[in-house]
Amino acid sequence: MMGAGIAEVALDLDALHASVGNPVLDSMRLLSETSFRYPEAISFASGRPYEGLFRIDSLHRYLDRYVADLRAKGQSEERITKAVFQYGPTHGLLRDAVARMLANDEDIRVAPESVLITHGAQEAMLIALRGLFAGPDDVLLTVSPCYVGISGAATLLGIPLEPVPEREDGLRPADVAEAARRVRSSGRRPVACYVTADFANPSGCSMSLAARRDLLKVAAEEDLLLLEDNPYGLFGRAGEELPTMKSLDSARRVIYLGTFAKSAFPGARVGYLVADQPVTGGAGEIRPLAEELAKVKSMVTVHTAGISQAVIGGLLAEHDYSLRRANRDLADLYVRHLELTLCCLEEHFPRSRVADHGVRWNNPGGGFFLLVEVPFRVDLAELERCARDYGVAWAPMSMFYVGDGGHNVLRLGFSSLTAEELAEGIRRLADYIRATPAVSAPRG
Ligand SMILES: Cc1ncc(COP(=O)(O)O)c(C=O)c1O
Repeated sequence: MMGAGIAEVALDLDALHASVGNPVLDSMRLLSETSFRYPEAISFASGRPYEGLFRIDSLHRYLDRYVADLRAKGQSEERITKAVFQYGPTHGLLRDAVARMLANDEDIRVAPESVLITHGAQEAMLIALRGLFAGPDDVLLTVSPCYVGISGAATLLGIPLEPVPEREDGLRPADVAEAARRVRSSGRRPVACYVTADFANPSGCSMSLAARRDLLKVAAEEDLLLLEDNPYGLFGRAGEELPTMKSLDSARRVIYLGTFAKSAFPGARVGYLVADQPVTGGAGEIRPLAEELAKVKSMVTVHTAGISQAVIGGLLAEHDYSLRRANRDLADLYVRHLELTLCCLEEHFPRSRVADHGVRWNNPGGGFFLLVEVPFRVDLAELERCARDYGVAWAPMSMFYVGDGGHNVLRLGFSSLTAEELAEGIRRLADYIRATPAVSAPRG
């Protein structure tokens, strides 16, 4: 009980760090809240992986495999027990395993010391940003629209963002060069550019091989680092894979951000970053950037959970350190679901009659997302109405823009739904779109 006359504390949102009141930090919560409030709605709102293949007993198997491999390497029971139960090294237990996997799956060849195991890719973004951005004039260029995890992390750290508009064919290197010059001419320093070359979130767009090569050239010319985020690269059509920018990078311009959230499962919360850039210290010693960034991690999460790493380590070993091979069936399923979603859209809104219905969509080569343009404005209130009255949810694209844009575009995430749910979801979405009056306002 409070003592008489002593007022309870009352805080003002305006008195907290500015990022706390910034809508970017609330966007993930708002999206999942709609799904919680309308559990009957078919939700295209998230980028969750397909749940149909998760098996509880596989967790035990992976953990056993990790431990068995350590025993086979001659490690003592005491050391193995400590690895899983105790506080562990900040850089993680899986540096060798991840370096091996990256060589197998992506032809990325780096020393294990250049890898830092993180609490998901989200922590990798936060750590990389904290380490690289030194002062208030250091600017992050980012493709726009972009994943809210990167704009949110930058906002949290007070890092200014300079948007580079994404075109229908993805991020264009010339646009990045122009944005870098714009920042410089305002007296500030463009430090790095965030990019997803394969099946971006939210747009589903990918960069061509030529664009990847050109972006590396632009990075060298403009003295930029590239933060390449690649959660969806495994999920395209077989035979259509393009090399990651990190694998093409002979000048160490790329810091690579990875996650096991889509290639294994997000509940593990295991990701990593690859930062092989040499950093020279005061005494002339040279260490990879990953080791410097580990200091940041030690003050954020201390280290990534040993149990989670052990489970992911066993999964990697079971699949001979290739998640590309391990995920081939799942990748095929996602591609089938993408094609089904496109087919259903065509059935309800034939391209030949676009002038009548005003509905268009893009055609990604893989990944988890596609975009649908509608002839009216959409926002969180519209999402709520659609979920409540039509039983289908999606994400309004405006929430992914740095600045203004996307007001008449929906993001559809098709990865977590079954084929039946996809077909029924698009039918409901079509009912919603047809019943909503079109506006002739300019499209944004
Ligand atoms: C582009 C992008 N990067 C990173 C992540 C997050 O990865 P993690 O769950 O490992 O933090 C996501 C998740 O949706 C994503 O879409």
